[in-house]
Amino acid sequence: MTETTADPRGSYPPAAAFAATANAGQELYDQAAADRDAFWAEQAGRLDWQQPFERVLDWSAAPVAQWFVGGRLNVAYNCVDRHVLAGHGDQVAIHWEGEPGDSRAITYRELLAEVSRAANYLTELGLVAGDRVAIYMPMIPEAIVAMLACARLGLPHSVVFAGFSPTALRQRVDDARARLVITADGQWRRGKSAPLKEAVDEALYAHGGTPSSVEHVLVVRRTGIEVPWTEGRDLWWHETVTPASPEHQAEPFEAEHPLFILYTSGTTGKPKGILHTTGGYLTQTSYTHHAVFDHKPGRDVYWCTADIGWITGHSYIVYGPLANRTTQVVYEGTPNFPDEHRHWQIIEKYGVTIYYTAPTLVRTFMKWGRAIPTAHDLSSIRLLGSVGEPINPEAWRWYREVIGANRTPVVDTWWQTETGAIMISPLPGVTTTKPGAAMTPLPGISARVVDEMGEPVSHGETEANGYLVIDQPWPSMLRGIWGDMERYRATYWERFAEQGWYFAGDGAKLDTDGDLWVLGRVDDVMNVSGHRISTAEVESALVAHPSVAEAAVVGAEDPTTGQGIVAFVILTTEATDTGSALIEELKTGVAKEISPIARPREIHVVPELPKTRSGKIMRRLLRDTAEGRQLGDTSTLVDPSVFEAIRASKEAG
Ligand code: PRX
Repeated sequence: MTETTADPRGSYPPAAAFAATANAGQELYDQAAADRDAFWAEQAGRLDWQQPFERVLDWSAAPVAQWFVGGRLNVAYNCVDRHVLAGHGDQVAIHWEGEPGDSRAITYRELLAEVSRAANYLTELGLVAGDRVAIYMPMIPEAIVAMLACARLGLPHSVVFAGFSPTALRQRVDDARARLVITADGQWRRGKSAPLKEAVDEALYAHGGTPSSVEHVLVVRRTGIEVPWTEGRDLWWHETVTPASPEHQAEPFEAEHPLFILYTSGTTGKPKGILHTTGGYLTQTSYTHHAVFDHKPGRDVYWCTADIGWITGHSYIVYGPLANRTTQVVYEGTPNFPDEHRHWQIIEKYGVTIYYTAPTLVRTFMKWGRAIPTAHDLSSIRLLGSVGEPINPEAWRWYREVIGANRTPVVDTWWQTETGAIMISPLPGVTTTKPGAAMTPLPGISARVVDEMGEPVSHGETEANGYLVIDQPWPSMLRGIWGDMERYRATYWERFAEQGWYFAGDGAKLDTDGDLWVLGRVDDVMNVSGHRISTAEVESALVAHPSVAEAAVVGAEDPTTGQGIVAFVILTTEATDTGSALIEELKTGVAKEISPIARPREIHVVPELPKTRSGKIMRRLLRDTAEGRQLGDTSTLVDPSVFEAIRASKEAG
């Protein structure tokens, strides 16, 4: 492939050779514009339906959509069985790379046997379609097998990121009333085995020993670490799943059968259980993986560096890629173990062609220096993707230049846990990309950037900022918040209720060409290394400490992680220690209560918090302070002088 260069305006047209063989061309936009329903019906044809659908979309019960009404299919059959039946049983599905350096290649035939064994054993345990299963596992093949086995049996899974605390796990287990937890003894983290099963036990015994809904804990042996054991409740995977029969007949479920619940942070302290269903979700994840990543089954080696604990892992490690018969790399560990060469060694080892990661990691690679990637042969790479937060133009260019040898397309993909699949992104064979812009909604997706009143922000002459909304239902959209449909309506559909639009919570701008740039959250949700954390969650973890009377948390700009968590706390009169030991204790407390990702970068002890007359904390002003900016309008504050005090404590700290 030849180098392609930026046009004079700093944008990058697709290389002719890439465009010539691209999966997706301009015609997709035209087809979708001409007849949206027909377009999505055609995309649904990428899947095997045991019973064809009668209707593409029923939006009569908005905002709860029904897609592919009357259709029946089995997700696991679509991700595994059909590839084996079509003669691709020997194709590697997963090149798994363990952190300590062990590895496994798993073919589609082997994956089918594993998933069938697990499905047989979960059935033996008495689980029936509709029962919930919590999965709390590291990035090992059994995690993917567990998800697929649940999908095969119609058991909605709730994957809880293995970095989350026992408290967070318990909260999620309780909310979904899970009957089973699947976990591992421990997980490898930079050469050490961190206990996981122990954390599950802590979660299940929490709440003063109040029993949970969990009947069994199924444990994969990964690190060999000692585990606490409860006879009758706890089961080893190798003693139960491994000896089970590798034959299992998948039965079809309705297109709207729940596939999974995935918890994500909202603007309050209680995480939201985002509910996704089957037919529409698999259609859009499969379609977008095919069109956006230009994936060619049997030829490409694909690597998405996400964790299965997040939506990116669900949609672009498990469901989309496997539905598309992908050969992919799954890596267990961190990018700098045993050293900073690890990702590039893996790319060389497996000949990775498509690499999908987060801006925070790109910026980390930049910090480590280009000498590290350039010491490796990365010539197999032909496409790069980015997800999770806005990618700054400098990181975008570095990514393309250093990792992509200045010739590969970069697709900046905007989407959310709630949207289930990619919504706004370049098509690599069509779009002339601009560093930092997600560009345009994909064919079949319709979005707008509007002002407070829902009016379009003007574009053409000047750039204009506004709110990002989606004005038409899409197949992989969430179907609700588990157990709280009122919160679903209030969170996403109330802001532009009159127009019937979904409000994404993001700000965006349209440039003078009408291309879309996502600017980040406009609500009280922070984005730290591509992970969503609510300010309220961190605040409630802080005030749980007896020395803290009040806390206000903001996300402040951070050169590596996008945002860093900065907390301002007022201490109680009983607080005896007010120094660095307390700050450390508070930081550790938050990491323990939520997850190490939520550990505040800075905590400042202040005498007062800036509040409006109605008692609302002025976060905007705290953000200004945290980022060292001149203060904006302080006229609505009760006591503008509190800032002098805050600044003094910040400088002292
Ligand atoms: O603010 C947007 C940001 O991440 C949020 C969604 O987070 P989550 O549900 O955890 O899903 C992350 C992976 C899909 C969005 O509301 N975001 C995600 N992708 C981008 C982005 N912001 C800008 N550009 C992106 N490409």
